[in-house]
Amino acid sequence: MSQAEDHGGTRRDFLYYATGGVAAVATGAAVWPLINQMNPSADVQALSSIQVDVSAIEVGQQLTVKWRGKPVFLRRRTEAEIQLGRETDLAVLVDQVARNANIDAAAPATDQNRTLDEAGEWLIQMGVCTHLGCVPLGNAGDFTAGGEGGWFCPCHGSHYDVAGRIRKGPAPENLPIPIAAFLDDTTVKLG
Ligand code: FES
Repeated sequence: MSQAEDHGGTRRDFLYYATGGVAAVATGAAVWPLINQMNPSADVQALSSIQVDVSAIEVGQQLTVKWRGKPVFLRRRTEAEIQLGRETDLAVLVDQVARNANIDAAAPATDQNRTLDEAGEWLIQMGVCTHLGCVPLGNAGDFTAGGEGGWFCPCHGSHYDVAGRIRKGPAPENLPIPIAAFLDDTTVKLG
């Protein structure tokens, strides 16, 4: 259902998944490779929900899709990211709430409460900094797992950990997790 095209960009974690004819998005010096989705029913439906083929995302990669006008990060985490996320003491978190639209609004920000699957491999979150709305960079910041995972917002220096939780900088909240579900092994529905 989708056609993957890697245009040889240097940041393999930042694939950009365009829907509805949206062009490439640039962030800093990095231009995201483009993936076009040919989905004839994507016009009206796409406004409220979209289906994303995640079959091409390898462990350690992130796909970025545009949904409701905003980027959504779909990251397939490494074992090291999962382990680091799960062993993080909740007491060190800036924002103690999971911010996951799929579960109770007051649920704590455990790693398990942030990921879509039981194993914690899939982290799907809005790619919008909770400070003033910039798009954070992946595999960056002070809270990666050996350089993998984690996000850094260069606008004013917010650091998010391997579970997208704010750890340092002016952003007040964890990256929000949208309504999302696996329809089958390789298809995620947003919205
Ligand atoms: S918008 Fe991200 S730190 Fe200000």
